[in-house]
Amino acid sequence: MAEFVMDNCSVNENGHLTVAGVDTVELARRYGTPLMVLDENKIRSIARVYKEAMRKYFGEGSMPLFASKALSFTGIYRIMAEEGIGSDAVSSGEIYTAKNAGFDISKMVFHGNNKTDADIEYAISLGIGRFVVDGDEELEAVNEIAGRHGIKQRIELRITPGIDPHTHKAISTGRVDSKFGNAIATGQAEKITVKALSLPNIELMGFHCHIGSQIFEVEPFVQAAEIMMKYIADIKKKTGFTAKELNLGGGFGVRYVKEHPYFDYGQAIKTLADKMKRIASISGIAMPIVFMEPGRSMVASAGLTLYTVGSVKRIPDMKNYVSVDGGMTDNPRYALYQSQYEMVIANKADKKADFACSVAGRCCESGDLLAENIMLQGAEKGDVLAVLVTGAYNYAMASNYNRIPRPELVMIRDGEPYVAIKRESFEDLIRNEI
Ligand code: LLP
Repeated sequence: MAEFVMDNCSVNENGHLTVAGVDTVELARRYGTPLMVLDENKIRSIARVYKEAMRKYFGEGSMPLFASKALSFTGIYRIMAEEGIGSDAVSSGEIYTAKNAGFDISKMVFHGNNKTDADIEYAISLGIGRFVVDGDEELEAVNEIAGRHGIKQRIELRITPGIDPHTHKAISTGRVDSKFGNAIATGQAEKITVKALSLPNIELMGFHCHIGSQIFEVEPFVQAAEIMMKYIADIKKKTGFTAKELNLGGGFGVRYVKEHPYFDYGQAIKTLADKMKRIASISGIAMPIVFMEPGRSMVASAGLTLYTVGSVKRIPDMKNYVSVDGGMTDNPRYALYQSQYEMVIANKADKKADFACSVAGRCCESGDLLAENIMLQGAEKGDVLAVLVTGAYNYAMASNYNRIPRPELVMIRDGEPYVAIKRESFEDLIRNEI
């Protein structure tokens, strides 16, 4: 039996790839392609791993906040609400979607290095749980707008711990020269902390850090947590303020291909908690409530994308191209980060992958690739190509480049598929055009 990076994938008696027990070739026939497929039960089970481990090791009140930038749509906020966890947002659009889905906005934290005054006004008017304040201008604006609304707004301050984890530079954010946050090393963190404590309409709850994404080692997270706990102790000594909360951001790695290691999220949370408790007791500070913001690790391995192969081009003595009916418009991650994916010809999943090729999208530019130099089962027009582990930062980053409509998104709950996002129509493409 073939083994896939997604443990909810298998091969059935017809030699077809299945996901969550459903034949993917049937899904492609029924809903058309490109098609995003998400296993709802898998998302819920990962959410429970985070929720239970965080409660167990960090204590009551600590919980995951789903980083919804990884996958933001109505249905996902409903699932997170039902699982009893919080969420983060990075725009008014995400907050709007969550609110509209019935998500409790008081369990949402609002991120971003340049929230506009309109964003701040909107979030406060809906009762946002926390702002993760990134800089001075935002701090002043939140103070002013909260005052106008007659409230004291809860915030966390974004702190840059100065960690440089080994990940792609576009998704590493904890370094001192990052566009995000306030560095401890430069004294800016302390300065903004003192300022936040002095403002009448601000209730400082604690601190936030995020070191990057797709990180497989626990060590950089432990280092960041250690730096943040020491910062909390230092600030207590200098100002008397004890942080009630510490938000450690997201970043746990996901196994996209077999070469990537397994990452045990529950075990990593335990390691972090042990370390932090030790520092808390040595420095004489109370253990804060801990939040984490998993995005990728919460949804990536629940999803795959199905395409129809349209052409197979063999360039003698050079390379072969398998072209599909989607590409960088539904998955820009290869074009942006050269991200690797496991791919299977879904209707030949029991066959040997002995055809060397690159997989191309349909956009009018040569950089529109999904993979280079991979092995696939012999591909021909009409085959269904499955790209695995596309649940995170695929639909969320999809575009209409070349006027290509966004795909349909189907979820599978208890073996039953249902449409969660309809395929965009041509009318959708021109809806706002006058
Ligand atoms: N919290 C903050 C403040 C973040 O900036 C991010 C991700 C997360 C949480 C979630 O991190 P995760 O658990 O997903 O690693 N588009 C890129 C990823 C960008 C991540 C941005 N921030 C990609 O496709 O790989």
